[in-house]
Amino acid sequence: MKSTNLSPIRVGLLGMGTVGTGTFNVLQRNQEEIRRRAGRGIEITMVADLDVARAKAAVGEGVQVVDDARKVIANPDIDIVIELIGGYGIARALVLEAIEAGKHVVTANKALLAVHGTEIFAAAHRKGVMVAFEAAVAGGIPIIKALREGLTANSIQWIAGIINGTTNFILSEMRDKGLDFDVVLKEAQRLGYAEADPTFDIEGVDAGHKVTLMSAIAFGIPVQFDKAYVEGITHLAAQDIRYAEQLGYRIKLLGITKRAANGIELRVHPSLVPAKRLIANVEGAMNAVVVQGDAVGTTLYYGKGAGSEPTASAVIADLVDIARLHTADPEHRVPHLAFQPDAMSNLPIVPMSEVVTSYYLRLNVADEAGVLAKVTGILASMGISIDAVLQREADEVGGEGATQTDLIILTHDCVEAKMNEALAQMQALPTVLAPITRIRKEELA
Ligand code: HSE
Repeated sequence: MKSTNLSPIRVGLLGMGTVGTGTFNVLQRNQEEIRRRAGRGIEITMVADLDVARAKAAVGEGVQVVDDARKVIANPDIDIVIELIGGYGIARALVLEAIEAGKHVVTANKALLAVHGTEIFAAAHRKGVMVAFEAAVAGGIPIIKALREGLTANSIQWIAGIINGTTNFILSEMRDKGLDFDVVLKEAQRLGYAEADPTFDIEGVDAGHKVTLMSAIAFGIPVQFDKAYVEGITHLAAQDIRYAEQLGYRIKLLGITKRAANGIELRVHPSLVPAKRLIANVEGAMNAVVVQGDAVGTTLYYGKGAGSEPTASAVIADLVDIARLHTADPEHRVPHLAFQPDAMSNLPIVPMSEVVTSYYLRLNVADEAGVLAKVTGILASMGISIDAVLQREADEVGGEGATQTDLIILTHDCVEAKMNEALAQMQALPTVLAPITRIRKEELA
């Protein structure tokens, strides 16, 4: 039987912010149970943060606090470095230096791994150390563990996730209160739900980083964020959410990766999802990921995608894994990206123009004879089949005496390039009075 009397594994933490503090606190609070699970104690013995006073206040006596992360990396007593600095800049250099120094790394940094993962995992493989990143995707939800280990029997078919809490909160508020995006964003910032600079969240970049990581693990392909299609929620209007609802759908920002005939789809964009799907009912800042495997069928993972202790939960799970596998032969550990490094696939990422999906279109049109025929004629000429049409009375849209109205069309599946062409032709009609809104639709059946 393995002894639980091994000396504790020693951890250095870079960046003592919200997640760092949560990690320290949960490790302290649950140390006995964690020790029984890991087979040895796990102790944060050194912390680096530019704000030494704040870090000292968070960790108390007995933990060395420095303002220079490189002092942690250089400390021969440290076995694992937790990187919670974020971003691609100094974090990349520090992670690579920690690997070179023979430390295992735990990181919550999705941006770093989605962009520089290939370099970082190769360096870790060479040095025989682990880089663990459960906290990088969907916070406290153990989705990396599920994909890398729990679902390892499956040929994964697709993954669709609500993996950004800020945008899900905004979309939920827009639906609940019938408000437009800009209004809700301002309110979310005032309440602290959205950051002062929310660009990465609202433009879909954060979700793009996360789906890139899931895609690599699901399909055994390199991380390649640069090939992901990324579209955020800034152009969504309250009426789109309302019309979608009238047609039986909710609008969610989904990160989608899918095995297709021509490669792997990797995309983030707002999507209509049937209201009856569980994932369509994930509200507020919560996250959820649906995975479709050929053997298991559909599985759904739900939980908090951000926050101090939910993210700490994932960081500590990685620490426990490393503590257990620390002494194992590196070849016998779970591979970073689930597949053995020499067995990765070179399946291409499908360009967005070749993706096949269905669509919601909203056209603001002149309320006169023949408009609908012209629009449907263009779709027909492109071979795009219509699933449903909703036309509002002009006075419902623009008030009494209005001469323009909204025409809502749901289509069946077609290739995106055809839809782009149809949209250009419809937009050129003199009776189409405003830029057409196009939102993709995913049945997730
Ligand atoms: N900003 C992210 C979110 C959390 O809103 O979900 C960290 O990835």
